[in-house]
Amino acid sequence: MKFTEEQRQALLTASLDARSKSHSPYSNYAVGAAILDEQGRIHAGANIENAAYPQGWCAEATALGAMVMAGGKQAVAVLVTGPGPDVITPCGGCRQKLREFAGPDLKIIAGDPGGIRQEWTLEELLPHSFGPQHLESNNKPQP
Ligand code: THU
Repeated sequence: MKFTEEQRQALLTASLDARSKSHSPYSNYAVGAAILDEQGRIHAGANIENAAYPQGWCAEATALGAMVMAGGKQAVAVLVTGPGPDVITPCGGCRQKLREFAGPDLKIIAGDPGGIRQEWTLEELLPHSFGPQHLESNNKPQP
């Protein structure tokens, strides 16, 4: 799918808007994520923390849930925003969660309230990844 500059800016806006809804009273580290799906739609989410700390989850997980519930099948690009000034990168668990709905070309873009900071592909952040294809051959009936 073609990825336009207009879509990049729309992702930034949606990610920052989601970030403003973050529930992160424990870390005080608000994160937003916006995913562009294969139909050109944007799904966003924020990190949602919990007083029982391990029960909290990341912004990418909220955005992926929104995408799946809207019927999205593949992520084309994801734009994650943090507070800055350090460039945010998706945590390891989120890289794997994104892998479920994306190939190696997924664009992962980092930003903050000052704008877009850096861009990678999923292959760069999660090389030699384990994905759904690994289970396909295994699930075939044994001869
Ligand atoms: N966080 C995310 O939402 N996404 C990431 O990829 C990195 C970390 C959140 C989890 C937690 O609520 C806060 O940032 C501090 O770790």
